[in-house]
Amino acid sequence: MPILTLRDYNKNMRKKAFYGLVTFISLMLTVWLTLYKPDNKATAPSAKSTTQTTADTTSTFNKQLYSIDQPGSIWWIVNKVRPVNPATYAPDDLVVPAVPLRVSAGDGEMRLRKEAATALEKLVQAATQDKINLMLASGYRSYQLQVAVYNANVQKYGQAGADKQSARPGTSEHQTGLAADMEPVSRQCETEQCFGDLPEGQWLAANAYKYGFVIHYQENKDAVTGYEYEPWHIRYVGTDLSTELHNQNNLTLEEFFDIVPDHQPY
Ligand code: DAL
Ligand code: ZN
Repeated sequence: MPILTLRDYNKNMRKKAFYGLVTFISLMLTVWLTLYKPDNKATAPSAKSTTQTTADTTSTFNKQLYSIDQPGSIWWIVNKVRPVNPATYAPDDLVVPAVPLRVSAGDGEMRLRKEAATALEKLVQAATQDKINLMLASGYRSYQLQVAVYNANVQKYGQAGADKQSARPGTSEHQTGLAADMEPVSRQCETEQCFGDLPEGQWLAANAYKYGFVIHYQENKDAVTGYEYEPWHIRYVGTDLSTELHNQNNLTLEEFFDIVPDHQPY
């Protein structure tokens, strides 16, 4: 049995004191990081800091970066009170995105403006990596195609019913070449509101902004946008604006640019 000398005893005590100190410092460091780390998500932000963040974002965002009136601008806003002008407008840079398509690539409706098409390819690739398989159901629609789409809706739902979900020719965002209707490759809930409850719809709602798209026709915003909720309809605006709108609690384009009409014309 080893005999513990006074020297050994002192050595042990020093060792214990050293380890005690290390443990104490680690503990203090953990507490400090938890409580005071600036970007700590666990610490509830004060009302003041939330307001400040919003104010900062708003004040630095350049709302004049692109025109909301000019055909061809990626921020061009088309709705019931802002018709396409001229009514026969067609973009000059339409391409077929390399994504799953509802109908053959030769169908003009499977096209989007180049910038939007490239962004959609990235979006669909990212979705696939998350095991979400999305397909383009409808992209660019010419004035003439919208005549057929709208008339079919009037036949089915009557004019008042059609006007809640289908744009009259010359007022569809699809004519800009910047809007896309998406659906699961299974075609489940194809252009139906139940799409919003599917994993594909949920993924789109959570991630579209990362690729420059917004869900324009949001739930309970009929008076603002003129249309019922369309979780499948995404509109390309570029990532500057899509991120800004996302950060501002998903404001619609009309709200953000302060052009909500007093009332919808129909
Ligand atoms: N469904 C949208 C409103 C359109 O027809 O453009
Ligand atoms: Zn659409």
